[in-house]
Amino acid sequence: MQRAGELLRAGEVVALPTETVYGLAADARNERAVARIFELKGRPAHNPIIVHVSGVEMARRCAAEWPEAADRLAAAFWPGPLTLVVPRASALPGIVTAGGPTVGLRSSAHPLMHAVIRECGFPLAAPSANRANQLSPTTALHVESAFGAQLPLIVDGGACQVGIESTVVDLTVSPWRVLRPGMIHGGALRAALGSGPVDEIAPQPGPDDVLRSPGQLKTHYAPRAKLLVRTWRDEADLKAQVAALEGRVGGCFVLAHTVIPSGSEWGGISVIPHDPEAYARALYGELHRCDAAGAEWIVVETVPDEPEWHGIADRLRRASGGQS
Ligand code: TXA
Ligand code: MG
Repeated sequence: MQRAGELLRAGEVVALPTETVYGLAADARNERAVARIFELKGRPAHNPIIVHVSGVEMARRCAAEWPEAADRLAAAFWPGPLTLVVPRASALPGIVTAGGPTVGLRSSAHPLMHAVIRECGFPLAAPSANRANQLSPTTALHVESAFGAQLPLIVDGGACQVGIESTVVDLTVSPWRVLRPGMIHGGALRAALGSGPVDEIAPQPGPDDVLRSPGQLKTHYAPRAKLLVRTWRDEADLKAQVAALEGRVGGCFVLAHTVIPSGSEWGGISVIPHDPEAYARALYGELHRCDAAGAEWIVVETVPDEPEWHGIADRLRRASGGQS
């Protein structure tokens, strides 16, 4: 923690664990340090970065306005996988918010992330620790294979417990809206706020739209292999579907949770628990593994259309380039 604090105070970028995915952290007040994050990720300058805080008190210092809804959501879900978009304090350098008037704030539940922020005493700008448009990392090893020696320090906090990125909620519009679904779903937010939109999945912006949340871009979070989301009756049906794609069964990795193929011809078969929390925790690790094994196709069994699964369904949709 001390070493991370020293590096961050010196304006370096350090990889830190959070409960969702690993982050690439820098002093949010330091323009040059934040610029280094953009450079390392190959992230376009118009994509704002989430600022991680130790709690509501630090969050208020990063915000020009702290709406009552922010207090309620923070009381209900912080520390946790929820990012609140509020008006930005002018003290934060514009680079963090991509020049925009709002800032995304989050208090992570990971004890190491929390300890480092306390050690530093300042907020940390931290996007997911992957290169732009690639899969987010859920282990320190994923970060190391993406960045290796380019980082002075990767803090290993184990496998991420949530496994997909935080829910992002925009509180600067009325009614509030979900910019990026996650494991805290719309129903849970509505329950904490007492009102709000019923449709939690934000509309997809067109290519020329201003990026309200670039996490909404269609292909984001994508593995190298082509990914498809499909439903199959049995193994023969799945094979017929793969044949129709002109895919080789041997180059095809299957992620199943209910109808599980048994044949040995597949490149690989992963069984992910049929439980949204366990599924989210396992998903990126499985996708990283398929990529590392040289998968040509990843065929993922459709997940239930229920609020608890919407964040997962969103990531699968993006990973498939919106084709599923
Ligand atoms: O779980 C997470 O949120 C992880 C961990 C590291 O905290 N972070 C993460 O950051 O996923 P990143 O930068 O990969 O994704 C942040 C998302 C992007 O879609 C970004 O556009 C959006 O949040 N975002 C950040 N600041 C915003 C703002 N001021 N207004 C709207 N969207 C914002
Ligand atoms: Mg990201």
